[in-house]
Amino acid sequence: MFIESFKYITTDCKPEFRRLGYLHESIALEARYRRLHDVWNGHVQQCQDLIRLAVEQCEQQRKVVVLGSGLLAEIPLEFLSERFDSVVLVDVVHLKSVRKWLVEFDNIELVEADISGLSSVLLQLNKHSKALPTPEPFIPSMDDTVDLIVSANLLSQIYVGPLNFAVSRTRLSDEVFIEWCQMIINAHMQSLIDSGRRVCLITDHLHEEKNRNGDTIKSEDVLFGVKLPDSAWHWEWQLAPLGEISRNFSVSADVTGFINFPLPMY
Ligand SMILES: C[S@@+](CC[C@H](N)C(=O)[O-])C[C@H]1O[C@@H](n2cnc3c(N)ncnc32)[C@H](O)[C@@H]1O
Repeated sequence: MFIESFKYITTDCKPEFRRLGYLHESIALEARYRRLHDVWNGHVQQCQDLIRLAVEQCEQQRKVVVLGSGLLAEIPLEFLSERFDSVVLVDVVHLKSVRKWLVEFDNIELVEADISGLSSVLLQLNKHSKALPTPEPFIPSMDDTVDLIVSANLLSQIYVGPLNFAVSRTRLSDEVFIEWCQMIINAHMQSLIDSGRRVCLITDHLHEEKNRNGDTIKSEDVLFGVKLPDSAWHWEWQLAPLGEISRNFSVSADVTGFINFPLPMY
């Protein structure tokens, strides 16, 4: 706990991202990843393999933009750095451990950005707000040399910070919040499609709680009913084994990946 508080105070982070809870979430994710390293390893390898496969399909390998780079666990960083002239890592927060690691590379750039485009407008919300802001999604560092965009387990997270903040500030209905989350998710997918580049998209979409016998006792669609196209790649991610959240149930996630989103394969 002390270590996490120390990180919270000493990490470089834009004030609005701090206020929206992104720094807190990133530090918590890092602690979870350290704790569950072995359990998450299968998922991490699947992600890295899929990104490698997408890279192999790129005709040119000039610049790759990774969205939701986070802790870089799911990203085959050395491979990307060797293959591409330039690697751009985009996230709302880049923790100190990530910044330290990147000193070893001379072709990797960090961009601190909220790709939903919601942060600054969100901060104006209050109990009198009658509507929620429209997402203005964007992909940083886009130019003619971008040959691959990776959206790395971001889709099911992109609404979480905005939603928590909006729920705490406004008095809008659940229906309004759900529609808004769907809008944020769809806006990110559309921005990937509109980029006109090869896109490797990886996302979890369903969370299941399982009892000690392995029976599913609760399912949650973490994309709020937004449908993904068919894909050739699926796997299960052991998010929280028995004992992590409860002694009585574990949580797993269904993950889907694309190497040429929105096409199922190629
Ligand atoms: C599940 S984590 C992805 C983990 C990461 N791919 C890895 O390999 O460690 C989701 C990431 O998306 C980032 N994120 C969430 N919303 C974002 C936004 N609007 N703009 C940029 N990054 C965002 C979070 O900060 C977090 O690092």
